[in-house]
Amino acid sequence: MNILAFESSCDETAAAVVRDGRVLLSDCISSQVDIHRIYGGVVPEIASRKHIEAIYPLADQALSDAGITRADVDAIAVTYAPGLIGAVLVGVNFAKAAALALGVPLIPVHHIRGHIAANYLTHPELEPPFLCLVVSGGHTMLVDVKDYTEMEILGGTRDDAAGECFDKIARVLGMPYPGGAALDARGRTGDPNRYPLPRVRVDGNPLDLSFSGLKTAAINLIHNASQKGEQIEVEDLCAGVAQCVSNALTGRTELALRQTGRRTLATAGGVAANSRIRADMEAMAKKHGVRLCLPALRFCGDNGAMIGSQGYYEFLAGHTADMTLNAYATKSMIGEQI
Ligand code: KG4
Ligand code: ZN
Repeated sequence: MNILAFESSCDETAAAVVRDGRVLLSDCISSQVDIHRIYGGVVPEIASRKHIEAIYPLADQALSDAGITRADVDAIAVTYAPGLIGAVLVGVNFAKAAALALGVPLIPVHHIRGHIAANYLTHPELEPPFLCLVVSGGHTMLVDVKDYTEMEILGGTRDDAAGECFDKIARVLGMPYPGGAALDARGRTGDPNRYPLPRVRVDGNPLDLSFSGLKTAAINLIHNASQKGEQIEVEDLCAGVAQCVSNALTGRTELALRQTGRRTLATAGGVAANSRIRADMEAMAKKHGVRLCLPALRFCGDNGAMIGSQGYYEFLAGHTADMTLNAYATKSMIGEQI
């Protein structure tokens, strides 16, 4: 089954063709990052307009790269939530028009479910159940993936997502948006213990997280140093921030593995590209004899392939939509999807 999939929830327009949920036939991305960088973050109105310009040619490119024609498309999948509402709407409306024109089913896919499915493309033998740590710009949570479309959220951040924490600190350090990857690169050679940074602590659910304290502490440290005319050792601070975030994520993940008894662990989302987090997860999984699946770097950030993969399993579960499908800025990834 060939699924033509679309993703437009933030600042990447993406179209891909995925066969039977696992075989990637094409994967096209048009990034808007250079435009939003001028403003230090995503400007929603600009994002929507750029999606409109990019999506049609990208759909054609995805088909030609896959070596198929419109007649070979068996279904259309699309991110319908969550995201910037104007941006998601562009994808949803284009997908509705495409499904109507081609006379094929329309499959709505939750963005976070898509991120998790990126692992199916990287690890063809991976099947639920498994535990998944989702770490993106907007979400940080531990998900028990019981089946392809049946999931439970075990814990998550009470405030900022891990990516947001990285990006805000990177911005104050003068790194271009989105700063997560730059902060990762600068921290690789640094001393993570040079600066005192707070441990991530929360009361209540031991699987919950909070990153606003770490973010504020790091930003205060930078401002204090600049007020005193002192030089910040950027490499060391970046390494320290990455260590704090990674320690918190690794600790919660370890606990969730113990609680659920799962023996397979996956990670998902843009922040899953972080080198420190990948290394720490590998060490932790090895220590416990747990099988670890990390998404290939190209599938960590937003892409259409992950939507095509999850779309297949949503289709098998009977989750299709009609022309009344709407876009949602927020929506839980568990329970009824539309
Ligand atoms: O999953 P994603 O592409 O978009 C959302 O769904 O939010 O994640 C984007 C986030 C941004 O915060 C970006 O800075 C972060 O992923 N990111 C990284 C790295 N690469 C991307 N954060 C830390 N280390 C990286 N190497
Ligand atoms: Zn994402």
